[in-house]
Amino acid sequence: MAIASKLVNTIAACAMLAACGSPQENPSDTGSNKETASKMPKAVPGKTLFMQCAACHSLDADGPKKTGPNLHNVVGRKAGSVEGYRYSKALGAADFAWTREKLDEFITKPFATVPGTIMAFSGIADSEKRKQLIDYIESTDSPAAD
Ligand code: HEC
Repeated sequence: MAIASKLVNTIAACAMLAACGSPQENPSDTGSNKETASKMPKAVPGKTLFMQCAACHSLDADGPKKTGPNLHNVVGRKAGSVEGYRYSKALGAADFAWTREKLDEFITKPFATVPGTIMAFSGIADSEKRKQLIDYIESTDSPAAD
């Protein structure tokens, strides 16, 4: 009898410990959630600006081809070189790489930079916005890109 009641007490103590344990775990969970939130990338103006490109372009490494070609690692990439994308004759025959300068020019006035391009986008006149946009595009590059 004495042993049995000791056992019951032990079990009860374990149960209480377990009950005490969980509230201790919860605050640390909340803590790590907060940490994750603070590590989330801050909203960058370029990201918002890219929304007008995102209708036609994906930017992720394995993003799909949309109306336009995937733009992952586009800075430094040869123009018209995405495998399996059917470029216009103009861009398909282009013989240059997309530097920041060239992108800046293209985004200002696509039709003027690559006459005959089928990219139906009129351009962004504001140079500061173009800079923010190119900064953002470049920030999504994979480190091993170059
Ligand atoms: C209405 C759809 C559309 C929108 C909006 C659009 N594009 Fe395009 N883009 C295209 C198409 C289509 C092509 C292929 C053009 C060609 O073959 O002549 C292209 C090509 C490009 C290329 C050349 C890629 C390569 O592989 O050589 C770049 C760079 C580019 N777009 C950037 C942008 C950026 C930046 C924006 C936003 C400011 C944007 N585009 C908005 C449709 C679009």
